[in-house]
Amino acid sequence: MSELIPVQTSTQDKYNIHTGLQLMPELEKFVEQFPSRSAIVMVDAFVLEHHRHYFEPALSSHFKRLHVFEVPRGEKAKSFEVYKQAVDFVLEKGVERSTPLIAIGGGVTGDLSGFVAATVLRGLPLIHVPTTLLAMVDSSIGGKTGINHQVGKNLVGSFYQPRAVFADGTFLSTLSRKEWVNGLSEVLKYGMIRHPEMLDDIALLLESNRFTEAEAWLPLIRKSAQTKTDIVAEDVLESGKRAFLNFGHTYAHVIEREGGYQRYSHGEAVFAGMIAAVEASNALGASINPTNLLKFKPLYELSLDEITSSPAELTEIMRKDKKVKDNQIRLILLEKMGTPYIHEVNDTELVEQSWQNMLNVFR
Ligand SMILES: NC(=O)c1ccc[n+]([C@@H]2O[C@H](COP(=O)([O-])OP(=O)(O)OC[C@H]3O[C@@H](n4cnc5c(N)ncnc54)[C@H](O)[C@@H]3O)[C@@H](O)[C@H]2O)c1
Repeated sequence: MSELIPVQTSTQDKYNIHTGLQLMPELEKFVEQFPSRSAIVMVDAFVLEHHRHYFEPALSSHFKRLHVFEVPRGEKAKSFEVYKQAVDFVLEKGVERSTPLIAIGGGVTGDLSGFVAATVLRGLPLIHVPTTLLAMVDSSIGGKTGINHQVGKNLVGSFYQPRAVFADGTFLSTLSRKEWVNGLSEVLKYGMIRHPEMLDDIALLLESNRFTEAEAWLPLIRKSAQTKTDIVAEDVLESGKRAFLNFGHTYAHVIEREGGYQRYSHGEAVFAGMIAAVEASNALGASINPTNLLKFKPLYELSLDEITSSPAELTEIMRKDKKVKDNQIRLILLEKMGTPYIHEVNDTELVEQSWQNMLNVFR
């Protein structure tokens, strides 16, 4: 049996995030509630190849017709082109508004499939089955769906809540170390902004040499999912507190951009970004020990040598970010561990110095 995390959304819909191992029997039972005897499954190509035997029986006992759309691996799948292919596929199968769409994969599959579910026939019932650590602790929660545009990432999309999330650690058996590390940054973030004790739990997991074991991660996956759920519930449509989830991310977006969205993974960039945010917090009077984060640095094997822009240039890029309103940089900083606040920057020197200090750490 799984542990359930209930989620309340602004639209009065309620759903559960099921967390645990071997959850396919539970998924099998869950889908029996749908009157439709056909379903769309949008699944990451790697997951389809390696886990089809695991998830398919759970779905095919109730759904007599399973229409499987293979989502190409990688960020490029969050494109208009693949979105169109998926919409064509779904409509050509003759779906009705009651036909569920089950998204099985990482954040890319979840974001793309969620957007397809949100838009086809003005909304198909959506079930998320996240299969990466990042998707389990972050992207499958909160209802953000979407694809990328040439102007920037995630610029076309909608808020669309699923009927359920099944975060089944069994899928994680095939996850590469790189992808574990990618998800780790978001877990560290929850520790930094709300539950500092999580950092000790992660350190213990590392000491016990169980870093890539799903079972050892379950308590942290649950705590992370609960933390994101709590923060989102306080601000479903992202007008205030939800911004706390962007801790480290304002810096990270610039780092990802500097690396052409290829050189540095999102998780690496967020890790470096959180270190810069700690530097800026301390410059404004907090006294956070940087070692809280720096002790995890060896996991990342990250060098920022290739970033040649100066701290002043990086700060300027931050200010011009598409998501920045009125050219005003807003940073999520910490008063102390676990207590974030929004800081409107009027002293760019502070930001430049935080870039410099962080770059020194990774050179
Ligand atoms: N919607 C949100 O709120 C939200 C939040 C954070 C991130 N995101 C988005 O999520 C995406 C990143 O998600 P991601 O890191 O999961 O990337 P991803 O979906 O590209 O998955 C990463 C890699 O892991 C592979 N993979 C998936 N499951 C696997 C498994 N069980 N075993 C082995 N390999 C597996 C995939 O094939 C892929 O190569 C980005 O597009 C980002 O914008 C969305």
